[in-house]
Amino acid sequence: MSVTIKSSREIENMRVSNHLLQQVFCEVEKMIKPGISTYDIDREAEKKIRSLGGVPNFLNYSGYPASVCASVNEEVVHGIPNRSKILKDGDIISIDMGLIYNGYHSDCARTYAVGTISPEAQKLIDVTRQSFFEGMKFAKAGNYLHQISKAIGNYAESFGYGVIRDLCGHGIGTHMHEDPMIPNFAQKTNGIRLQAGMTLAIEPMIAAGTWEVDWMDDGWTVVTADGSLAAHYENTILITEGEPEILTLRDDEVRI
Ligand code: MF3
Ligand code: CO
Repeated sequence: MSVTIKSSREIENMRVSNHLLQQVFCEVEKMIKPGISTYDIDREAEKKIRSLGGVPNFLNYSGYPASVCASVNEEVVHGIPNRSKILKDGDIISIDMGLIYNGYHSDCARTYAVGTISPEAQKLIDVTRQSFFEGMKFAKAGNYLHQISKAIGNYAESFGYGVIRDLCGHGIGTHMHEDPMIPNFAQKTNGIRLQAGMTLAIEPMIAAGTWEVDWMDDGWTVVTADGSLAAHYENTILITEGEPEILTLRDDEVRI
């Protein structure tokens, strides 16, 4: 599949899909407290997705068994919700969710504090978020894709963090994963030239320690090889001739 340019009708569908997903995040955010299980979060999220007229896009994707990825502490991404995984004070949890509305996909991730977390954990969350916005400075028609990758990676690495290399962002639209692949670190090539109408899911995954990861025996959960904390921040965006439109950023999420 090559990189697609969305028509205005498609863009409108992408907007709706992503705005509905923001509402699911509102529900889920309220639940993030010590004592709740990641299974509870998944149940609530799926219910909300369906009540909004959406379909969970993670569920059954290559056999993935849930609607949400819930990754705690050293888990980077793709943590499978589980009744026995109970959040406790001081944890950090990355919630990655998406839905399909009228045939169009949305995809978004945030890392949250559970109760009171260490300053180190908060800094990792903040830098991961900011690395995305460093990338946004280059997310404009006419620029090259890998300018975004480089800006994200260089920013995160300047704090001594490990930028996960085994997983990437991606194009998104009528499929959850479309071309292009979007690495979160500097590449030797420029990559494609960005054009207005491209919709991309950009998702830095950053570890406090090494960038190296392992896969758990469940075939999904990605963990840092050194057991250090990891954070994830993802938005679906629309490339325009000017500022990118960040389709999954809520009005109440302050932009730096
Ligand atoms: N949100 C993930 C991504 O950005 C997809 C989760 S994988 C799934 O690629 F299997 F859970 F769907
Ligand atoms: Co994604």
